[in-house]
Amino acid sequence: MSSFLIVAIDGGAASGKSSTSRALSERFNFLHVDTGSYYRAITAELLRRNLRADQPDTVKAALPSLVFSTQVDGRAARMEICGRVVPEAEIRGPEVTASVSHFAAIPEVRSALLTYQRGQADVARTHGFRGLIMEGRDIGSVIFPDAGLRLFLHADPEARAKRRALEGRADAVAERDRLDATRKTAPLVLASGAIDIDSTFLNLEQVVEKISGLITEKLG
Ligand code: DC
Repeated sequence: MSSFLIVAIDGGAASGKSSTSRALSERFNFLHVDTGSYYRAITAELLRRNLRADQPDTVKAALPSLVFSTQVDGRAARMEICGRVVPEAEIRGPEVTASVSHFAAIPEVRSALLTYQRGQADVARTHGFRGLIMEGRDIGSVIFPDAGLRLFLHADPEARAKRRALEGRADAVAERDRLDATRKTAPLVLASGAIDIDSTFLNLEQVVEKISGLITEKLG
């Protein structure tokens, strides 16, 4: 039997990571972890507590009270904070979208999530998945630098802004990328050795096919 495979997918905002990862998780029976949704859930919780990213000391003080656990919903992992999954409508809303990059730039917020994210591989194994597909900004560079497959998804900013507009979501894609790529801790970066895929002129199916070939090769 082939061994458990970890696939890391990084890329900018609206680069197609989520749709691609979801489709691949279905095709290969992998657990899908969207780490952006984890940063969003933490942001929603901190905002709910009236905390602000420009006051990092109060944010740091609140972090130990956030207890993380995981709910597996089909092939998707959802993070629970103190036993509650923050609803999708809240984590995708404009307030969270506008603040998430600022909270994600606080090193202590990132380290609070580090071990939890690595532990998702055990969650996947325990639930009998054949692998883990984890998407984010620093998965191939920091969380799983030894992942069996590390990918970086590109798409030009115009194409990405168009995707968000079609979804009817307000999202300053380029500004979020600027913040995510210039922060000091674990910035958005094409990790050395990662495979760079430009999806500007590819549709979802074509991207999924391309990566499926790479996964099949790895699974042997
Ligand atoms: O993937 P997304 O656009 O939903 O992510 C929301 C934000 O979370 C993104 O702007 C930066 C942050 N993030 C991060 O810093 N590191 C990750 N691994 C995933 C997301």
